[in-house]
Amino acid sequence: MKTKIAIIGGGPSGLLLGQLLSKQGISNVIVERVAGDYVLGRIRAGILEQGFVDLVREAGVATNMDAAGGVHDGFEISVGDRRVRIDLKALTGGKTVMCYGQLEITKDLMDARSASGLETYYESSQVSLHDLKADSPFVLFEQGGEQFRLECDYIAGCDGFHGVSRKTIPLELRTEHERVYPFGWLGLLSDTPPVSHELIYCKTERGFALASMRSETRSRYYLQVPLTDTVEDWSDEAFWDELKKRLPEDIALNLVTGPSIEKSIAPLRSFICEPMQYGNLFLVGDAAHIVPPTGAKGLNLAASDVSTLYKILTRVYKQGDKACIHQYSEIALRRVWNGERFSWWMSNMLHNFGETNAGGLDGDTFMRFMESELNYYLSSEYGRGIIAEQYVGLPYEKLT
Ligand code: APR
Ligand code: PHB
Repeated sequence: MKTKIAIIGGGPSGLLLGQLLSKQGISNVIVERVAGDYVLGRIRAGILEQGFVDLVREAGVATNMDAAGGVHDGFEISVGDRRVRIDLKALTGGKTVMCYGQLEITKDLMDARSASGLETYYESSQVSLHDLKADSPFVLFEQGGEQFRLECDYIAGCDGFHGVSRKTIPLELRTEHERVYPFGWLGLLSDTPPVSHELIYCKTERGFALASMRSETRSRYYLQVPLTDTVEDWSDEAFWDELKKRLPEDIALNLVTGPSIEKSIAPLRSFICEPMQYGNLFLVGDAAHIVPPTGAKGLNLAASDVSTLYKILTRVYKQGDKACIHQYSEIALRRVWNGERFSWWMSNMLHNFGETNAGGLDGDTFMRFMESELNYYLSSEYGRGIIAEQYVGLPYEKLT
C-alpha cells in the first residue's frame, strides 16, 4: 500500500489533517488503534478558537458546527463573592469563541471522511514506524489478522499522549517537560439547561468548579477533586450538592439538576515534547503536548499544529519546496509554549493547591501569591485584556 501521508491516530488531529490534505488532493491513510465508536465515546472540552473554526470551514466540514455551535462573546470568573466578566469581544476588538463539543467535531470529520471514501484502518494493532530518516518511510500494522505495510513520504503522528509516534523518536534526541498537578477534574454531563448562558470559572476555598455547556439543553460541569477520588465516590447527588457550594450563590439558585449521562475524572498535566519532528515524522496534538483544561486549549493547540503541518505539506506538494519541512517543530512549539504557559497560569490562579508544595513555595504562600495575581488581573482592563487575548487564541504563525 502506498500513500503520500500516513496519519497515525484518528482523533480530532488526524481527522482534521486528513480532511484538509484531501481537499488539496494530497493522498492520506489513517491508521487508528481502536474502533470509530470508541473514539466517539470520549467526552472532551468544547471551546473552539476562531483559528480552529476557520480551519474546520476550510476543511469543508462546518455545516453542523455553524448550525449548532454557540458563539460566546465572554465568560465569567468568580472568586468568592466577586464575579468578573471577561468581555472577549470588547477586549479583543471583536473576537469570540465557539462552543461546540469535541465529540461533535470528531463525528462531523468522521462522517465527511467516510463520505469521501478516504481510507481509515480502524482497530489496527502492532503499529510501528520505520525508516523515518529515509526518503520512503513506512508503517507496519495488523488489522483483522492481516499484516499491512503502508509506504509513504511523510508520517503525521496524531496518536495522542499514549501513542507510538513520540516514542519512536530516539530518547536521546527528545526532551520532555512535565508538570503533574496534585488534583483532577471530575466532569459531569447532563441533559439539563446550563445554569448560565456563559461559562463560569469559579475559584473557591472548597476548590475550583466550572460551569460549561454543550447546547441550550445540555450542560457540562466540573469539580476539582483529589487525585485519590474515584467516580464511584461521587453520586450524582453529591456532585450537585458540591457544585452548588462552589457556584456563586445567586447562580446556584438557578441550577437545574438531573441524572448524569457521563461522569469521569481526568488528571491535570502540563506536558511538552521537544522537538516535534524527527526525519519525516511530525508529532501533532496530544502526541506532543498536553495542557490542563483550565484554559480550554487542548483541542485548539492540536488545531494550530494541524494548520502548520497542513500549510507545510501543501507547499511541499504544490510548490515542490521540500526545505520548508524543517520549520514545523519551531513554529508549532512557539505557539504550544504560549498555550502551555496560559493553561498553567490559569490553573495556578484558579485552583486550591491546599498544602501541596507548588513552585517551590509552601502551599499557603503560593496560594496567597496566586490570589493576588488573579485579583490584579481581574481588577484592571489591561489585565482582563491579557486573559481575553489568550483565551480567544493568539494568531497562527505564517511560514517563512
Ligand atoms: N496506533 C494508532 N492509533 C493510536 C495509537 C497507535 N499506537 N495510539 C493511540 N492511537 C489513537 C487513539 O486511539 C486516538 O483515537 O490516536 C488517537 C489520538 O486522539 P486524541 O488522544 O484525541 O489526540 P488528538 O487527536 O491529538 O486530539 C487533540 O485535544 O482537547 C484535547 O486532549 C484533547 O483529544 C484531545 C486533543
Ligand atoms: C468544557 O466545556 O468541557 C470545557 C470548557 C472550558 C474549559 C474546559 C472544559 O476550560
